[in-house]
Amino acid sequence: MIQQAKEVLETNWRGGFTVPTDKLYPFQWNWDSGFVALGWARLDLSRAIAELRSLFSGQWGNGLLPHIIFHSESEETYFPNFDFWNSQINPTAPEFPKSSGITQPAVHGFILEELHQLHPDSQELNELISELIPKICLYHSFLYEHRDPYNEGLIFTYHPWESGRDNSPVWDSALDSIVIKPGDIPSYSRRDTSIANSDERPTQDQYDRYVYLLELGKRHAYQGQSLYEETPFAIQDCMMNAILYKSNQSLLRLAEKFDYPQEEILTWVSRTKQSFNKKLWHDKMGCWVSYDLKRDGQIEEREIGGIIPVATDLASQDQVNRISDYLIRLKKRGFSLCPSYDVDSPKFDSKRYWRGPIWPHMNALIAEGLEAQGESELAKLIDRDTLQIVDEYGFFEYFDCQQDAGIKSGYGGDQFSWTASSIIRILERSQ
Ligand code: DGY
Repeated sequence: MIQQAKEVLETNWRGGFTVPTDKLYPFQWNWDSGFVALGWARLDLSRAIAELRSLFSGQWGNGLLPHIIFHSESEETYFPNFDFWNSQINPTAPEFPKSSGITQPAVHGFILEELHQLHPDSQELNELISELIPKICLYHSFLYEHRDPYNEGLIFTYHPWESGRDNSPVWDSALDSIVIKPGDIPSYSRRDTSIANSDERPTQDQYDRYVYLLELGKRHAYQGQSLYEETPFAIQDCMMNAILYKSNQSLLRLAEKFDYPQEEILTWVSRTKQSFNKKLWHDKMGCWVSYDLKRDGQIEEREIGGIIPVATDLASQDQVNRISDYLIRLKKRGFSLCPSYDVDSPKFDSKRYWRGPIWPHMNALIAEGLEAQGESELAKLIDRDTLQIVDEYGFFEYFDCQQDAGIKSGYGGDQFSWTASSIIRILERSQ
């Protein structure tokens, strides 16, 4: 499997960065790149270094780290392409490479720390770390400046694509509140459904709303208080915030070693600590949930983002136990771990992107977190499910969690980079 994983990464390497998969995602994606760097770091450190350096070459002067970096302007299999985003509307966006105007989960701090743990003596890596610490801090300060209107240490997202969980039911009620009138969105044609099966991808109604929010962001040059005031969609995602916090904690440790000021990072960490569980833990459901700022309330949906905080020290022992019990119950009922959405909800859809399927990079993050929290047996179960499913179906983007569904294949894109990278990490950890 390691050999196959290596081949997938090689196939997707574009001389400086890695595409998630050919055609469906033909550019550099932000958090994909982070996870992919973890795979490369086990095979060829110089590629991991190039990957991150290339990602940060797209950072804007205001700190935004875009969710897509369009290194090539001739690739035409993806919508929305660089011309649709028109990042130049923000004067701080670089002329080249072109990029999108939104971001993705801020994984880079903890990824950089893991690279350092793997290669503590690499001079080349140490140079990268010194170079990236200030850039990651600038990125995080952008998030707190533009996305944390009440200084809670909790950032909001105004676009489901930022969360990485595009069509999760978490966003449904906020998206449903958007009424699109004729002329509100430009005409466009999707490319994803001609490459992947349309019943495995978001629906057309959802896509219209993604485009609506993209246009809204563009009107505000993708930043600022005015954007917050106008957007009908402003959600404090429990996963994005857990990941940002995890990265901040890694940054603190790296800052100490690399002699970088820690005060600002300490403030971020302590604010998040004060608000996170108060606002995002749902005691009755026994999981974390996201918070809708526009409707002023928690979103009561059980989904994979509500499990990710076990990978941080924001999780108490009791919270870890409750999440573990939930996963063990699912396993006993015959599901593979970890379904991305509540299998008992009428909105569960075992095929469709983030409304049910299993995602290997999420599994890897959850298993690592659970192991660190002392839940090694459960971590092993998750690892075993991930390995088995990829071994059986191939290096797809996502997979069915119903083992007896008679499924013959994985879903979404094939030869998927972060699936390969996750397999490399899981195999290393299970040795
Ligand atoms: C897509 O195009 O499906 C991506 O998830 C958005 O970045």
